[in-house]
Amino acid sequence: MITARAPGRVNLIGDHTDYTGGLVLPMAIDLATTVEGEPGGDTVVLSSADEGSEAVVPLDVADPPSVSPPWARYVAGVVAVMRPAGGLRGSVSTTLPLGAGLSSSAALEVAVALALGFDGTPLALAHLCQSAEQVASGVPCGIMDQLASAAGVEGHALLIDCTSLDVTPVRMPDAVDVWVVHSGVPRGLAGSAYADRRAECDEAAARIGPLRAATVADASSLSDPLLRRRARHVVTENERVGAFADALTAGDIDELGPLMTASHASLRDDFEVSIPVLDELVDRLAATPGVIGARLTGAGFGGCVVALAHPGATLSPGARRVRAATGASLTTQ
Ligand code: GLA
Repeated sequence: MITARAPGRVNLIGDHTDYTGGLVLPMAIDLATTVEGEPGGDTVVLSSADEGSEAVVPLDVADPPSVSPPWARYVAGVVAVMRPAGGLRGSVSTTLPLGAGLSSSAALEVAVALALGFDGTPLALAHLCQSAEQVASGVPCGIMDQLASAAGVEGHALLIDCTSLDVTPVRMPDAVDVWVVHSGVPRGLAGSAYADRRAECDEAAARIGPLRAATVADASSLSDPLLRRRARHVVTENERVGAFADALTAGDIDELGPLMTASHASLRDDFEVSIPVLDELVDRLAATPGVIGARLTGAGFGGCVVALAHPGATLSPGARRVRAATGASLTTQ
């Protein structure tokens, strides 16, 4: 019997920067997906009590997006990219809210890959699972979610440089609690909006060079106003991630809130991935006593808001406190 466990993630700051080689600061959280089973056979069969259905994926699966039920596509994506030597029969369960923007799909992919015998570095695991996500969903996602799930460090956020792929753990101060609040709007990544944003960033980079190295002046030089805004978001967000990580390390808690506010405004106005429900939630949380700052987290278009708060603060009903957790693991009995 093997048990593979992979956490979800919340991104503290640095959204829509990973696929441009930028900086992100996610942390793996203490909500996770577990795959248990017995290796063998030439099929992966996983029952899900949370979904009330079963994934049946042959090892030679040809077209993951056509697999049913929809959650089984992520299992099929891992099988198609990894081509494991043998199958697995077992079950999958999760404490993560599904489709809420806390990377339940990345956690599923990472847990399945480990359960199917993946043996390599956390970075290699993340690359495999990023490909699986792209194959399964058709969304050209970056590497943040899978890398946070694979490489999480208890009590730390992860400063990830998506150019070098260096991962630097940043200790979370005791004086900061991390909360997630679901907007109630399911995160609809699979639409074309994510791919559109990525293509716009590619277009901007084709004109001014890699956005990671670009300055605000470079972004301002773009004649197309839409590309100008997209590039400005990426350039300023990278700066905010660096400043945020420095402030966490130095214990400068007062600097965190304004950086989160500016990040949300940039995602809303320049990158246009927020929706009114998220904007209102961020405003309400930011005005709550004890809250240090709030912003949308992840891709946007729905999903969750992340808020930092002083210990003892009371957030809205439905808010959930999360802790920085260790990355994915495998145990064999
Ligand atoms: C999704 C993607 C990530 C990242 C975020 C936005 O979560 O899977 O790669 O691009 O959106 O920061």
